[in-house]
Amino acid sequence: MPERRIYLPPGKMPTAWYNVVADMKTPPAPYLHPGTRQPVGPDDLSAIFPDAIIGQEVATERYIDIPGEVIDAYNQYRPSPLHRALRLEQALGTKAKIYYKYEGVSPAGSHKPNSAIPQAFYNKKAGIKRLATETGAGQWGSSLALACNWFGLECTVYMVKVSYFQKPYRRTLMRLWGAEVFASPSDKTNTGREVLAQDPESNGSLGIAISEAVEDAAQRADTNYALGSVLNHVLLHQTVIGQEAYEQLKSVDEYPDIVIGCCGGGSNFGGIALPFIGQKLRGEAPKATRFVGAEPAACPTLTRGEFRYDFGDVAKFTPLVEMYTLGHTFMPAGIHAGGLRYHGMSTIISRLAHDGIIEPNAYTQNSCFSAAEIFAKCEGIVPAPESSHAIRAAIDEAILAKAKGTEPTILFCLSGHGFLDLASYESYIDGNLTDFELPEETLQAALAESAI
Ligand SMILES: Cc1ncc(COP(=O)(O)O)c(C=O)c1O
Repeated sequence: MPERRIYLPPGKMPTAWYNVVADMKTPPAPYLHPGTRQPVGPDDLSAIFPDAIIGQEVATERYIDIPGEVIDAYNQYRPSPLHRALRLEQALGTKAKIYYKYEGVSPAGSHKPNSAIPQAFYNKKAGIKRLATETGAGQWGSSLALACNWFGLECTVYMVKVSYFQKPYRRTLMRLWGAEVFASPSDKTNTGREVLAQDPESNGSLGIAISEAVEDAAQRADTNYALGSVLNHVLLHQTVIGQEAYEQLKSVDEYPDIVIGCCGGGSNFGGIALPFIGQKLRGEAPKATRFVGAEPAACPTLTRGEFRYDFGDVAKFTPLVEMYTLGHTFMPAGIHAGGLRYHGMSTIISRLAHDGIIEPNAYTQNSCFSAAEIFAKCEGIVPAPESSHAIRAAIDEAILAKAKGTEPTILFCLSGHGFLDLASYESYIDGNLTDFELPEETLQAALAESAI
């Protein structure tokens, strides 16, 4: 009988993060200053980021050593297990082998601590006292709250309002770990007050919450900003996922034909896929592996967005980033996968998708919850609504393989558990979940409104 779980001993955890920029044929375009539209330099970023993070953002070397203190904190939950989804394979009647890397074993229940820990560490080392951040579903906010607590920093979180009410226990978790949490748009910042003046009932969006957190951080010398996805250094930190998965698969003589992850800003997908993409780009991969990014039909950045420069936030505080975008003023529908409600995408993932190395697919909310239900029944784990997009994609690939008579090895990232998302499962079971397909005219209006 094949093993259901493949573990790595703690001593086998990667000691360096992998930087795909070193291997990309066309590296990502530089960020542009929001005012001058010239490439940003380190000085432009130093108001909100420590030097070590700025260095990683623009790094071109292939590997960057993980500091000992970060490895020690990672060891609280890493290496994470790789599971073989044997019951799911049997239920689908497929000969595909399905593996999932389970990041829900972290204290916060997702992959997000993989970047929260080094970000808190580097800020503490730089003498910063407090971090401000945004959070969608609350996974990133809770991860940063914990990491700040571990490294002795204060933490303020602007949580997208729709999730603040949909996921009250994430809020509790952040407060338990010592953070203060505001529903965004809030009355704490100019950005928040302006949005509320225009629309007091605003659901909020990640683009608004980012503006609030950046505004907060820029106003206080003792405070920096931390972002939970999108930026190069966040994807870099997440590559521990794919590097571990490579070693775990190697230990059972496997290599993936298909690698899958859900895409919000691109960090868990980048984390699992980039080490394998690097092998492909360097001509070292033993297979012609495909890389599938799974996103919501309600927020279809990679599948229907434009590839161009855009702002990362509503208030245009962030640099301009070359990426797939739905427009920085785009307001996504209030789907339960709050962490996937972002108008933009990592510039690295966007470039790789533009160059045809990554295949994006979009899925409706109900189809993802039904995949999550099958998965939960077979494997026992309740997935985060975000992760259910990757499960939908993996199940579709396995069913396709059955129809074609092929036997691919499928690897996907189960980015988090859904124990604090049970209210959304309740709605699904009761048949109350709505599917939001983004109307073309809404998309075109958002793109036109946010032309730069
Ligand atoms: C469990 C989980 N998966 C995925 C995501 C999406 O983020 P990213 O695309 O950066 O991995 C989030 C974001 O909050 C999340 O909480």
